[in-house]
Amino acid sequence: MAIRLSRTFVLRKLHQLSGIFPLGIFLLEHFYTNSKSLTGPNDFNNAVKDLQSIPYILFVEIGGIFIPLIYHAVYGLVITAETRPNNLHYPYSRNWFYLIQRITGVILFFFITFHVLNFRFGLIPGLNNQSVATHANDAFNIVAREFHMWPIMFVYVIGITATVWHLANGIWLFLVDWGITIGERAQRLTGYACVVFGVVLLLVGINAAVGFIRPGGLLGGII
Ligand code: HEM
Repeated sequence: MAIRLSRTFVLRKLHQLSGIFPLGIFLLEHFYTNSKSLTGPNDFNNAVKDLQSIPYILFVEIGGIFIPLIYHAVYGLVITAETRPNNLHYPYSRNWFYLIQRITGVILFFFITFHVLNFRFGLIPGLNNQSVATHANDAFNIVAREFHMWPIMFVYVIGITATVWHLANGIWLFLVDWGITIGERAQRLTGYACVVFGVVLLLVGINAAVGFIRPGGLLGGII
């Protein structure tokens, strides 16, 4: 007997999947590249050059990042608009996580729009008119100049924190929604694993950002 899937079910599953693949995977790659700031301007600029030399890079960016991101973001806002929080009636931690997932989604929508226009396209008048991607030799300096401005650094710390929370909690949701972690004990242990993953990823993300204003990052190059 053929099984008919509702349109909402398919759209919802695609939304969940896109959060992990490609977006979550891309975030890990992005933090890896950003961490090249820790070993100095040349290493970071070379990493940007390497990325830009990937064959068909424009199509990779459009198909692998922009389209999934726009789909996930727009459908995520639709889901958020339908949200009916009940935290005051049922103050369970999972209810708060449900609400924070939506709040961080909205923060990400504005942060990622700003971030892509700012560094990928150099289209923030009065702040930056140089695309990092097309000025690879100057990539480190373009980012460092902005990160020395405290309000911009603050925006990035909030953006990185919201992104990491959204992904770490999102991985937990994905594993449960897709029937990969079943049972109370498995879900509790996966929850701890996602917390550890989130804390490590947050440190890596913030450290990479600090690497643009302090040689070696938070630890000043000790490790
Ligand atoms: C750009 C704006 C974004 C918005 C508005 C947004 C919104 C949302 C919302 C509302 C959910 C909860 C869906 C549900 O409970 O069914 C969600 C889940 C998720 N998001 Fe996002 N998101 C955004 C960006 C991102 C990014 C950049 C990533 C990856 C780094 C990401 C990864 C995930 C993951 C892994 C899930 C869990 C999927 C699941 O529920 O199984 N999201 N997003």
